[in-house]
Amino acid sequence: MTAQLIDGNALSRQLRTEVSERVSALKAKGLTPGLAVILVGENPASQVYVRNKVKACEDTGMHSVLEKYDASMSEAELLARVEALNSDPTIHGILVQLPLPAHMDAQKVIEAISPAKDVDGFHIASAGALMTGMAGFWPCTPYGCMKMLESIGYDLKGKHAVVIGRSNIVGKPMALMLLQQNATVTICHSATPDLKAMTLQADVIVAAVGKRNVLTADMVKPGAVVLDVGMNRNEAGKLCGDVDFDGVKEVASWITPVPGGVGPMTITMLMVNTLESAERALA
Ligand code: GUN
Repeated sequence: MTAQLIDGNALSRQLRTEVSERVSALKAKGLTPGLAVILVGENPASQVYVRNKVKACEDTGMHSVLEKYDASMSEAELLARVEALNSDPTIHGILVQLPLPAHMDAQKVIEAISPAKDVDGFHIASAGALMTGMAGFWPCTPYGCMKMLESIGYDLKGKHAVVIGRSNIVGKPMALMLLQQNATVTICHSATPDLKAMTLQADVIVAAVGKRNVLTADMVKPGAVVLDVGMNRNEAGKLCGDVDFDGVKEVASWITPVPGGVGPMTITMLMVNTLESAERALA
């Protein structure tokens, strides 16, 4: 079998077009959705990410503010900026790019963001809302994975989903989203004794570890759907995921490539969350 590709670039384009249309409708009512992005320090990867987030706002017609600060900024100064944005009516989403410099407590900064503007979905109120099925914001990467499954018309009810990785940003919220759609969910991690025994039972596998070749063809049941959240580099410096793509694509029914899979969906879902926040502000 050769798996079909779930094309994150194509799905992103389609979703961003829908976002642009909803942004235009809000603008017609006098409200422009706004996202504030805060970057502290000079992390090169973070600089690329925030640039792409601001560009996505421009492309979809949203207002954006990029605040860049020196790594020497104090935590108190950053908290004051977050407070100011919490009460700024032109801003509907606040994103503090991680990682923060070591002298700052990232969780404390995230908790300072108003849950109504937590478009990253990292606040404990957002985590609690996801856990209990209440209205809140879903973290963008697992939310993007759910949209990818929806795009292929995949019904999770009664299926076994195995999530590899237990981070607060991807693994744990991913498991909750799959559970909400009536999958039977297993979370595997570095202390799981026999990962292959678990993944061989899976109808859906989400790999979110941050390590190459975590999932190889011998670990995948024929016909399974495989989503690869990994962003790694191989010896040649080429971007690759957690999945041995060339091997697994011969066994899976659907697979996401890296690059061009889950990656582009993350920023798209940030746009969706920011738009949703603005729509809630008007409701
Ligand atoms: N750093 C890497 N990914 C992310 C993300 O999705 N949000 C934030 N705030 N920081 C990140």
